[in-house]
Amino acid sequence: MDLTETLARRHMVRSFLDRPVPAAPLQRVLAAATRAPSAGYAQGLDLVVLDEPVARSQYWDTTLPAPRRATFPWPGLLVAPVLILVCVDPGAYVARYAEPDKRATGLGSGADAWAVPFWFVDAGMAAENVLLAAVDEGLGACFFGVFDHEPALKAALGIPAAVRTVGTIAIGHEDRAGARPSRSSRRDRRPVGDVVHVGRW
Ligand SMILES: Cc1cc2nc3c(=O)[nH]c(=O)nc-3n(C[C@H](O)[C@H](O)[C@H](O)COP(=O)(O)O)c2cc1C
Repeated sequence: MDLTETLARRHMVRSFLDRPVPAAPLQRVLAAATRAPSAGYAQGLDLVVLDEPVARSQYWDTTLPAPRRATFPWPGLLVAPVLILVCVDPGAYVARYAEPDKRATGLGSGADAWAVPFWFVDAGMAAENVLLAAVDEGLGACFFGVFDHEPALKAALGIPAAVRTVGTIAIGHEDRAGARPSRSSRRDRRPVGDVVHVGRW
């Protein structure tokens, strides 16, 4: 699939078929994350892949306890055979920018020195690679937030305290019949001419 078509097809999939993702395409999708750019080539990204029923159940039990599940608007999301927790380590960036070739930036003094926390930028870039690679493999994917479940997820999955969980990507085969658009998707996509300011704002 060429890039233009991949970009056009990409959309957040919130309803999945109860069908496994074979190992080879999943590995290619995961490898795509490592092709993402990274500030200072710090590569402070880690992915926690939950592709076993017990691990996925534990994820949903942690983030969407049974009483709330009955009213959850996207039950088809809970069927996704693979969940990928996108994690970043701010400390990896601080350490990298304390190295001699980056020291002059002053960003090696601590995370607070960063006007734009590049670790979150990198996580977004890697996440988009995963979303696009999934489309390229004929799969669907959805990135969604972990909101205030970060401490509980980190405890449940053994993620180091200093690492941040940026979001989760569900991957699987799209259940088109079960698709239920989110309220956000009722918004119109902003035309390119509105977004782009040539020369000045
Ligand atoms: C940083 C980020 C966080 C998001 N969080 C959620 C979320 O928590 N739940 C959800 O259903 N969709 C989430 N989305 C998906 C957006 O709603 C979606 O990308 C947007 O409506 C545009 O639709 P499209 O991606 O299908 O083109 C998130 C997207 C991004 C980039």
